[in-house]
Amino acid sequence: MELCLQDKITIITGAGRGLGEALSYGFAKEGAIICPWDIDKENLERVCEKLGAINKLGKKAVIDITDESQVEKEVRLIEESFGRIDILIANAGILHAYEITEFPEDIWRKIIEVNLTGYFICAKYVARVMKKQRKGVIIQINSKSGKKGSYWNSAYAASKFGGIGLTQSMALDLAPFGIRVNAICPGNILESPLWQTSLFQQYSKKWGISIEEVKRKYVEQVPLGRPCTYEDVLNVAIFLASDRSDYMTGQAINVTGGQEMR
Ligand SMILES: NC(=O)c1ccc[n+]([C@@H]2O[C@H](COP(=O)([O-])OP(=O)(O)OC[C@H]3O[C@@H](n4cnc5c(N)ncnc54)[C@H](O)[C@@H]3O)[C@@H](O)[C@H]2O)c1
Repeated sequence: MELCLQDKITIITGAGRGLGEALSYGFAKEGAIICPWDIDKENLERVCEKLGAINKLGKKAVIDITDESQVEKEVRLIEESFGRIDILIANAGILHAYEITEFPEDIWRKIIEVNLTGYFICAKYVARVMKKQRKGVIIQINSKSGKKGSYWNSAYAASKFGGIGLTQSMALDLAPFGIRVNAICPGNILESPLWQTSLFQQYSKKWGISIEEVKRKYVEQVPLGRPCTYEDVLNVAIFLASDRSDYMTGQAINVTGGQEMR
């Protein structure tokens, strides 16, 4: 059977854990050659070992996506190794929650730096390669918080709203070169380490309720009655990366079980 991403050279940022890790395995199973990037060396090594068992591994990189010189160098090395870059999944992101009047400025700036400027830097250098090919796909992992304000999450929501503006603007700049740029806006992925190791505990403490009650509170907000899964996001990412979505660019697609409807 022909796989829908056979031999596509694919950079995935934040591939060391969580959604980026799951997307890496899912894309590799569809035949893509993954170049996984992460700032966390240990996690990256672990993921690469598993990836190697699924498909040929591309070029891994321990990299900080907010450092323009590191990104420029790594993109050049990938282009030298493979002669092209077919897909960029800009997934790396961070979240720190504070009420607005207590939000530390340095943490605010860091969130914007990783979630918005990091996306810009990666897309800038990858798009230079894609322009020469006159083909390519850029997908940003955004959030439902990219379309609707989020309680205690002003910096995260601001960075994700900005990400949709960047996605639409790049889609315009790059359409003449056959490069499509889209974003995916997932709902709450309650199986992710972000929730399991941090958000459940934070919200449970803040509201004085159990972790089970926090979970119920979030699931009750979803018309389809369950949390978002890695698989839900993967399915849409594969579609957006493949030629099946050839006529789509500049879109921000909700994968929220109906929680967000515009
Ligand atoms: N988990 C959710 O419920 C959820 C929901 C909607 C959207 N998202 C989005 O999905 C993406 C992934 O989220 P996740 O939950 O898997 O997060 P996560 O924290 O589990 O993983 C993020 C990865 O990015 C890496 N990273 C962070 N800063 C980096 C940098 N400067 N350079 C390179 N790598 C860096 C981290 O080391 C980590 O491996 C994010 O953009 C997030 O906003 C997550």
